[in-house]
Amino acid sequence: MKIGAPKETMNSEARVALTPESAQRLQKLGYECVVEAGAGLAASLPDAAYEAAGVAVVGSAAELWSQADIIVKVREPSADELDALPSNKILVSFINPASNEPLLEQMRVKNTSVLAMDMVPRISRAQKMDALSSMANIAGYRAVIEASNNFGRFFTGQMTAAGKVPPARVLVLGAGVAGLAAIGTSVSLGAITLAFDVRPEVSEQIESMGAEFVFLEFDEEQLDGAATNGYAPPSSQAFIDKQREKFRELAPSVDIVITSALIPNRPAPELWTDDMVASMKQGSVIVDLAAERGGNCALTKPGEKFVTDNGVTIVGYTDFPSRMAAQSSTLYANNIRHMIDDLTPNKDGVAVIDMEDDVIRGALVTHQGEITWPPPPPKVQAIAASAPKAKEVVETGAEKADRERRELQRSLNSTALMLGVGGFLCLALGYVAPPSFMQHFIVFVLSIFIGFHVIWGVSHSLHTPLMAITNAISSIIIVGALLQVVSGSWLVMILASIAILIASVNIFGGFLVTRRMLAMFQRS
Ligand code: NAI
Repeated sequence: MKIGAPKETMNSEARVALTPESAQRLQKLGYECVVEAGAGLAASLPDAAYEAAGVAVVGSAAELWSQADIIVKVREPSADELDALPSNKILVSFINPASNEPLLEQMRVKNTSVLAMDMVPRISRAQKMDALSSMANIAGYRAVIEASNNFGRFFTGQMTAAGKVPPARVLVLGAGVAGLAAIGTSVSLGAITLAFDVRPEVSEQIESMGAEFVFLEFDEEQLDGAATNGYAPPSSQAFIDKQREKFRELAPSVDIVITSALIPNRPAPELWTDDMVASMKQGSVIVDLAAERGGNCALTKPGEKFVTDNGVTIVGYTDFPSRMAAQSSTLYANNIRHMIDDLTPNKDGVAVIDMEDDVIRGALVTHQGEITWPPPPPKVQAIAASAPKAKEVVETGAEKADRERRELQRSLNSTALMLGVGGFLCLALGYVAPPSFMQHFIVFVLSIFIGFHVIWGVSHSLHTPLMAITNAISSIIIVGALLQVVSGSWLVMILASIAILIASVNIFGGFLVTRRMLAMFQRS
């Protein structure tokens, strides 16, 4: 079969769905590749690069439609493009089926099998085909660069001879793929970065990236990601009010707001209201990544950048990935290549639409003259889905004091019981054992008790230095065992040999693990 990529017709779309590199991989799967002349030019991919990779270059879209069996695209086809498309083709592209019913109908009539790249389910196996994530990652990065360009000040704080420069304060709303990419970029540029998301499970991720999670004290069981394929469910009005109250408090103190909150197949939630914009400082910047779905900011104009009366720049571009076309084309073409790999079980250049395949079924929106969207839920769990969290309850001061008193009482009772039983056993043993044994035995028991309590409280992040200390303890054990190994008693010799063996394993294993953990933090 032949795979073809046309030149994108949508204004300002610079990406292309097939790169010379992805074409070579597709050829290895048994396909022939064809591209419309000039399709990759805006992404710095000249026709010559395609020809060098063995891709045929045709002069017009009409030629491409007639030659290719599988058409790969970035943007959904326009009505004109679909009119020109012959029947019974396979189309792989972004489609946005929820708001494109006439397009679905047109494709159904044409008997086109359409795989929507934006409908690939978020399951582990499909990560390599997840074009929404790869594009959102680029958009998040670009949003910060765009914000910094319009902000016109340092992100990082500086102390210079000419004066002190405060760091910028950046607030990221929505910590999905785009939000996390924005947080990473903002933190690496040195800004104080705050982030908010309705899914509290992302707070650890946010904090591990060096940003601060904006907590909302709210008592509501509404965050069951499992029920929504890894996406956030819609918020209740009470939650929205609480959220807005917090944002109003933050608005005057932040310099940059990057919004990326989204609930799939719904208009973007309005998070940043006009009064929040009005309370921001002159020169502040809002980058609204959700502009295409109406925007998270009430004042956003999709596709445009403008400055409000109080001097706040609002950027509502809807083409961030296209502004980094070379990189986004490479990633998108790779996503498509993986999708076609999945469509080609026999690696013989023949695409097979397997309705039992979760990924293919999830992405398939029309097939054999039927509209197959929305798909049934995938059989496997979504990646981001986690067990529902226990309901978070906000305690009053008195309730907290009462709970702490009860916990302390319980722990004192169990310690007293342990000491009582332990004391009784020691007395019983002392009754029959020689005094020299009892002296060593009590030291042994006490060191286990103290050691347990000391080690138990060490936080996970300190386990590596802890391992280094245990190396020192293991060395002392080895020295002791070496002194004992020459004693005449075979029992002592065996015990000393075992001690040397175990302590050595501990030392060498400790070094090995420490080295591997340190390697994780080293840049190659
Ligand atoms: P995602 O689904 O991975 O993340 C969205 C996040 O928003 C989730 O973490 C969700 O929990 C959070 N969220 C939902 N409702 C919220 C609320 N009320 N308050 C706070 N957080 C809330 O989506 P992804 O892939 O990160 O995309 C984010 C946005 O960026 C989307 O609107 C997408 O269309 C847009 N985007 C825009 C591009 C552009 O060129 N402008 C390019 C790529 C993506």
